Amino acid sequence: MMTNEENYCFDVGGYLIVPGVLTDAIVAQLNEAFDATGHFDGMLSWEGEQRELFRDLLVHPVLVDYVNQLCGTGFRLEQLPRLITDDPAAKLSFDGKLSGGDEPRDQARAYYHQNDRRQCQLVRAIWALEDVAAGDGGPVFVQASHKTNVEMPTGLEEGTQDLGLVREIPLKAGDLLLLADTTIRGLRPWTGAGRLRLLDYGFAARGVILEAGSGADAFETDEPPWKKELTPAQQTVMHKPGKSDTTPPKTLIAQGDDCLVAAADEAIHPSFLHRDPDSGIDAEEFFFWDLCGHLVIRDIMSPEDLALANEAIDRFESDIVVQEELSRGSTSLAGTGRPVLNTLLDLPEPWCGPFRRMVAHPAVVHRLTWMGGSGFRCDKPTAFCAVKGTSGHALHDSNEPLNPSRSYVYKNGRSFCEAITVTWQLRDVTDADGGFACVPGSHKAQYRMPPGVRSCDDDMGLVVHPTFKAGDVLLFMDGAQTHGALAWHSDMARRSILIKYSSRNFNRSGGDFAHPEARWGDVVEGMSDAQLSVMRGPDRDNHSGNVPRLDVAGDGDIQVLYERSGGLYSGATPDKPLA
Ligand SMILES: [Fe+2]
Repeated sequence: MMTNEENYCFDVGGYLIVPGVLTDAIVAQLNEAFDATGHFDGMLSWEGEQRELFRDLLVHPVLVDYVNQLCGTGFRLEQLPRLITDDPAAKLSFDGKLSGGDEPRDQARAYYHQNDRRQCQLVRAIWALEDVAAGDGGPVFVQASHKTNVEMPTGLEEGTQDLGLVREIPLKAGDLLLLADTTIRGLRPWTGAGRLRLLDYGFAARGVILEAGSGADAFETDEPPWKKELTPAQQTVMHKPGKSDTTPPKTLIAQGDDCLVAAADEAIHPSFLHRDPDSGIDAEEFFFWDLCGHLVIRDIMSPEDLALANEAIDRFESDIVVQEELSRGSTSLAGTGRPVLNTLLDLPEPWCGPFRRMVAHPAVVHRLTWMGGSGFRCDKPTAFCAVKGTSGHALHDSNEPLNPSRSYVYKNGRSFCEAITVTWQLRDVTDADGGFACVPGSHKAQYRMPPGVRSCDDDMGLVVHPTFKAGDVLLFMDGAQTHGALAWHSDMARRSILIKYSSRNFNRSGGDFAHPEARWGDVVEGMSDAQLSVMRGPDRDNHSGNVPRLDVAGDGDIQVLYERSGGLYSGATPDKPLA
C-alpha cells in the first residue's frame, strides 16, 4: 500500500516521484531503442525486440501497484506512449505555455476523492530516461493545480507570467513521475547540458471515454438497417461510443422544434452562473488564493508607516518577550525561542499609529470581504522579531481532519474561509532568511499531514517559502492551510506583524460566554452536569479536545468527559463538574 506520505503528496501536490524504479541497464536499453529507430512514438508496435521494452513498462509491477491505487484497479492505457524530448525532429513546442487545471472540469480526466476513496481518472506515468536537474528548463508544473476551482488566468496560460507558481520537476534517470493529468503543466525552453528524454504513458480509470483506439473496431460500425432511416439528430443521439467518428461525440443543439447536429469540437456544457465583472475580485488573486491557500499583496504600506513601524519596534525593543521554542523536535527547524512584541496597539503616539492603521486597512478589508464574507474581527497585532538562530515553527493545521470553524470551502464563485491571518512585512525576506512557510494545496488535503512535512525534514518538495519586500502583506488560511515557519538565518532580525482574523460564523478563542451561567443566567439553575455541558456558549472548536462532551456508557448512563487535549484557549469553559 502507498504510505500516507505518498497519498498526501499526490493528493495535495498532484504528483508523486517514485525514485529509481528502472535499473541503469533498462534505461540504457530504452535509450538505445530511441537512438536506433530515430522515432519518438509508436513504440508499442515497433519491429522486433525493441517494442518489448515498452510493452514491459505497461505492466511494470511498481507502476501497476501505484496506478491501481491512484486510478483504481482495472485501469487502462488510454494514450499511447510518446517521448518528450528536446530533439528537434520531435517538433515539440517549448514555448512555456501552460494547460490543465480543474476549471472548467473534465470528468474524464478529473481527480476524485471522497471518504478515503480515490480515483484519478487520468494518470500520467512518466519515466525519466535522462536526468532533469534544477535549472534545466523543460517540463514545468503548478503544484496542487489538479484541484483548482478558479479558471487559470490568461497570463499564466500564455506563459507571460508565472505568479511565482511554476516549478521545474528535477528527476533522475530511472525515476517514475506519476502526475494527475489535470495538473497545470507545460514545456519551457530546454537549457540542460544533456538530452531531455521523458517517456510518457497515459493511464485512465476503468470507464473513461476520452480517445478512440487505433484498431479496426474503432473504425468499423455494424449498424442495423433501420438506423439509416433515422434523422441525423436521432442517429447522433444513438451513437456507439468509442469509435473514431464518435470520440468525442457530436453535439446536439435544441432549436425550437428541431435539433441541429454540430461538430464534436462544439461541446456545450452551460453554467448557471456568469463571472461577475463587478465583483471587485481580481481573477489572478482568486486563482492563487484558491490554488495555494495564501496570497501576497505587494507594496501595500506607505513609506511613512513602514518607517514609523520599524522605528517603533527599534524604540520599544526592550518590551520584546522571548517565547517558547516551536520546532517540535524538527532537525531543520531547531533553534532558540521566538521573540515577540505584542503591545503594539498600546504604544504611545505616534508609534501605535501604523499598527492601528493595519487592522482595518482598506486593501486588507477588501480581500477579507471576498475571502470569507463581511463581519470579520481580529485580535491585537503581534510583531514576530526572530533573530539569527531563532527556531522555526513546526508546520501545523490542515484540511484533514475536518475542522469547519477554521476551514476553506469554494462554492458557486465564493470563497468561504473562516480563519485568516494577515502578516505585514516590515523588512525584506529573501529565500535564505527563513520565516513563514506553507504547503500550497493543503487546504484541500484528504490525508493526514505526514511527520516529514510537519518537521520540514522530509517534505517531498511540497513546502514553499514565499519571499517578500518590506511593505508587502501576506494573507493565509490559518487553520485550513498547513503553515508554520522556517528557522531564521539572517543577521537582520525578522519583522512581521501578524493579525489573526475570524469570520462572523465561529468563535475562535473562548471568552466568558462559553460558561453556561454566563451564557444563560438563571435558566441553568439546578441543571445536572450533563445538562450544563450542552448549555455552554460558543468556544474554540479545537477538535473537541477542549470542551466538555457527553458519552453514553455501556449501561446507557450519560457521562460528561472533561479531559482536555491539545491547545486550551478558554478559561471560562468548565473543566470539571459544575453542579
Ligand atoms: Fe499558525
